[in-house]
Amino acid sequence: MSQNEFFPGKYVETEKIQNGYLVKTDSQCVIMISFLTDQIVRIRYSTDGIFDNDFSYAISSKFVPQYPEVIFNELAGHIEFRTAALIVSINKADCKVFFTDLNGKIICRDEKGFHWEENQRHGGNIVKMGKMVQEGEHFYGMGDKTMHLNLRGRRVSNWAMDTYGFKKEEDPIYKAIPFYSAIHTEMAYGIFFDNTFKAHFDFGSERRSVTSFWAEGGEMNYYFINGPELMDVIKRYTQLTGTPELPPMWALGYQQSKWSYYPEAKVKEIASKMRSNRIPCDAIYLDIDYMDGFRCFTWDKEKFPDPKKMISELKENGFKTIVIIDPGIKIDMDYHVFKEALENNYFCRRADGPFMKGKVWPGECYFPDFTNAKVRKWWSGLFQELIEETGVRGVWNDMNEPALFEIEGKTFPDDVRHDYDGNPASHRKAHNIYGMQMARATYKGVRKYNNGLRPLVITRSAYAGAQRYASGWTGDNIASWEHLWIATMQCQRLSTSGFSFVGSDIGGFIDHPTPELYIRWMQLAVFHPFFRTHSSGDHGEQEPWSFGPDALNIVRKYIEFRYQLLPYIYTTFYQYVTEFAPMLRPISVFDQHDNDTLYRVDEFLLGDHLLVCPVLEPNAKSRYVYLPKGKWYHFWTHKVLEGGKEILAEAVLEEIPLYIRQGAVLPLFPVMQHTGEKSIDQLMLHVYFGDENVNSYLYEDEGMDTNMKKESTIAKDLRPIRQMGHSHFT
Ligand code: GLC
Repeated sequence: MSQNEFFPGKYVETEKIQNGYLVKTDSQCVIMISFLTDQIVRIRYSTDGIFDNDFSYAISSKFVPQYPEVIFNELAGHIEFRTAALIVSINKADCKVFFTDLNGKIICRDEKGFHWEENQRHGGNIVKMGKMVQEGEHFYGMGDKTMHLNLRGRRVSNWAMDTYGFKKEEDPIYKAIPFYSAIHTEMAYGIFFDNTFKAHFDFGSERRSVTSFWAEGGEMNYYFINGPELMDVIKRYTQLTGTPELPPMWALGYQQSKWSYYPEAKVKEIASKMRSNRIPCDAIYLDIDYMDGFRCFTWDKEKFPDPKKMISELKENGFKTIVIIDPGIKIDMDYHVFKEALENNYFCRRADGPFMKGKVWPGECYFPDFTNAKVRKWWSGLFQELIEETGVRGVWNDMNEPALFEIEGKTFPDDVRHDYDGNPASHRKAHNIYGMQMARATYKGVRKYNNGLRPLVITRSAYAGAQRYASGWTGDNIASWEHLWIATMQCQRLSTSGFSFVGSDIGGFIDHPTPELYIRWMQLAVFHPFFRTHSSGDHGEQEPWSFGPDALNIVRKYIEFRYQLLPYIYTTFYQYVTEFAPMLRPISVFDQHDNDTLYRVDEFLLGDHLLVCPVLEPNAKSRYVYLPKGKWYHFWTHKVLEGGKEILAEAVLEEIPLYIRQGAVLPLFPVMQHTGEKSIDQLMLHVYFGDENVNSYLYEDEGMDTNMKKESTIAKDLRPIRQMGHSHFT
């Protein structure tokens, strides 16, 4: 115990307050406990008895606490709070907290519990929490971390970072999502530490028996989320921090990007090659070179003399146009965006007055303070021309960690000031949410000017809750087999951290993939919600036809398959939006009661039924697959296999091992070139007959509109019908 560490001390009394309790100690420390539902309890600690203004960017405004009935008991050694599902107890001697089920079985308990150090340099406290690692405990979650899904024995930090060419285990990286789930003895729970300062999580790395988390400022403010099912923990966390609205169907189609396609003729050439090669595709991306000198909201008129016309021609051919928008605004008095922001005092300032100046693509820039509601409103308004008049259909927010060149730490210095929506703060507190607030302002703008159509926004940086505003990609990865593995981890991990609409740059952003690697990456990405090839373009072409005719044929088959799967993927998305279910499910989430699933990370389910086992190594002809318990159809041969064991699956280059649950009904579209094609009023149901009763669902609407009421809202129950037998995919 360090001399500078302080502890709450002994219990004195409990006071009932509106929607919760204050637990007082013999130090000035006060613990505030509120039960939001039977299963979610929030615990806040004040070290001096004063709770600051309660404000969170993470919690969804759609989350309505139920404040259930809680029974309070004072016993000899501890006090306890009981809901219909959970008991939270606090020891009288030292105020350590423990969580048990109604039978008294320990789910999670404090080791050192809450303690703190004064932060002499910045003021405030370094707030810390120590909990026991339970026997056989496993840990998951934490956003986009690049290591093994199971975090036991590791330490990670949350500080959003531009990590070009990141490595396996590299940390911190782009996103900061302070949520983990844990499971032991078949019981799962989650912890969401809603603190935006730089934060650290240690899962039995420093001391094998202790899990700890701490932040370099702010409040010890965490949510304990009960299970006992992992799936429910993730759903409850996702409900707390929100889901996006359903994206337009086209946003789930294939998207082609590169840094950068220009001039206009090149963009059109790519689009027409998609069609002539019969590669289904719905969107094409313009990276930073479409702008005039990297000034956001402008066009380089030499490269793109008439963007509106180009975009409308692309539209006629079934392509949506997406453009990149970065936060850095070039210092230039002749540039209207810069001038407006300057005149209205919208840029971030250093603590002692001057504007925050930093270098990014355009050279020296100032940066809007997206934590200010007025600034967000102004920013949203900037999209009018781009969206409403020019016809752009989606916006890609990059560099929003925020990333800076040629500066120590690659981001703003700590002293930069932010409005933090009326809770003025330094960058130490605002850093991790800067990108999310940019995405929020972008989303509002794109949505507002999109003629009532659903928008697509993509973000690189994120904090908990960012999924409400944007989809995400995993940043500047590398064309290597290791990165294919990393992408598999990151997308599953994000999905179990509330952020389902994610994907990686297919084939890798840096370097050039071999045809084999590109094919294997495509085979994986077909099952990732966000489905886009993007590359730096420095190392050769990265379009589906760039790897020779054999590769093209395989890649085409998989992109076609993605389009066939769209009704299933769209339904899975709907389940995410409305039921908070992660779209990608590690097999531990699928069946936590089978110990063999808890370490398996290179296979996952997309939605309720599809088990995806990507090939992550070169020259593979087969791979080992752990088939979870139950019966599965081999997707390509239709052979029925008994699960609960490891099998050697054939995996020639043309084939990704794929399985579907017996009893499932899979809704499929016909092959199409883009989602706007007329022919998609057809739907096929493939029935995978079985003895077990498995529910299958289909959600349908017309795929575009923001107005849910106008939709032919059908959430249909599909049930396997014996007479239909099963049909198959050819
Ligand atoms: C960043 C992005 C990358 C983009 C590039 C140029 O590196 O992560 O996707 O292509 O900037 O805008």
